[in-house]
Amino acid sequence: MITCRICQGSVQEFFDFGSQPLSDAFRKPDDTSTEFFYRLAVGVCEQCTMVQLTEEVPRERMFREDYPYHSSLSSVMRNHFEQTARHLMETECRGPDPFIVEIGCNDGAMLGTVARSGVRHLGVEPSRDVAELATAKGIRVHFDFFQESTAAEIRAADGPADVIYAANTICHIPYLDSVFRGVDILLAPDGVFVFEDPYLGDIVDRASFDQIYDEHFYLFSASSVRTAARRFGLELVDVERLPVHGGEVRYTLVRQGRREPSPEVAALTEDERRRQIVDSAILEQFGIQVKRNCEELTGLLRELRAAGHSVAAYGATAKSATVMNYAGIGPDLVPRIFDSTAAKQGRLSPGSHVPVRPIEEFAEPYPDYVLLFAWNHAQEIIAKETAFREQGGKWILYVPNVHVV
Ligand code: SAM
Ligand code: TMP
Ligand code: ZN
Repeated sequence: MITCRICQGSVQEFFDFGSQPLSDAFRKPDDTSTEFFYRLAVGVCEQCTMVQLTEEVPRERMFREDYPYHSSLSSVMRNHFEQTARHLMETECRGPDPFIVEIGCNDGAMLGTVARSGVRHLGVEPSRDVAELATAKGIRVHFDFFQESTAAEIRAADGPADVIYAANTICHIPYLDSVFRGVDILLAPDGVFVFEDPYLGDIVDRASFDQIYDEHFYLFSASSVRTAARRFGLELVDVERLPVHGGEVRYTLVRQGRREPSPEVAALTEDERRRQIVDSAILEQFGIQVKRNCEELTGLLRELRAAGHSVAAYGATAKSATVMNYAGIGPDLVPRIFDSTAAKQGRLSPGSHVPVRPIEEFAEPYPDYVLLFAWNHAQEIIAKETAFREQGGKWILYVPNVHVV
């Protein structure tokens, strides 16, 4: 039996992706070391409804000095984080000397705006290269993993935080109990803990199964976050659906009794109950659709290759590790992936060993078909790459189903 990381209830596994590599471990071509694999499977707690991975990858393997994900590479995300920073400063920083802490600040996409506004802040970031990029932007960074002990150190040095914010990071942290205890230590009496992560409701709706990989330990819903938070004296007082990264929810938590929950909290938890998003029949259906989508995708790629078409992929996302390694997509079907991240270029995709090439080579010459692994950035990328479509190129998408546009 697998035990829930939050409540020690029993976790029922509902999908097994088999053996998978670290999703962000892009290998140098001459690296002959043994590649690390683990079993990627996902389950739901019968007691608290938290959807979670059944096996935990040690955090130091994932969040290393050369962790290659850079938040600021997407203009949509830069804009999203600038607006987020302004919103947090306007609505939650009323005192004379407010203090904003970001967990997982990465290259400073959000805190850059806070720093430029002269507001007291601190980013907590364990991956060295991205932490250094943030520091170079004038951001104060505490180079470590956020957990209870880190929170105590920050509280002792800087005092209480008015805002603790995190994007695409809290769902990465299996030791959520330590994070919540840390928030309890660090948060000012009337402070807010705000975090946004991929939303289980959207993942189930869109069959976006590639949101499931080592780093995404939890797939949150409003109901599961509210239940987990209450165990640590926090109350979920607001939820906001966000369009970024294929559908997320921003959760706002405060100390219990400090604010009335907004009607949106009741509306979303009620919607989850009505849709039964953690019902075993719904999750079984999700699994059937995942298998069907993967079979259709490999079938389409095989047909295109057999017909002599050139095929490539766009966006060496962490998500693509799940797709390629589960569906069996390698260099024979997709000979290269174009990506704008310097830290991924010249390397091989984890497990599937497809070469990652700079975007500058995309047009040399354009492939006939391009599998868009970064489908969550589809609008931005398709708008940027109009010349590819104009000369007859076609995009292949696989969420919510396999289709060519
Ligand atoms: N917040 C950025 C965004 O939304 O684009 C970065 C998200 S990135 C997917 C996750 C970040 O969280 C990484 O930079 C990683 O190093 C960091 N991280 C992982 N575990 C952490 C922890 N326990 N405390 C603080 N940061 C952590
Ligand atoms: P993400 O889906 O985890 O945000 O990763 C997106 C990947 O796609 C990342 O490796 C950067 C890459 N990318 C491009 O190559 N070009 C682009 O225009 C964008 C937005 C992302
Ligand atoms: Zn549980």
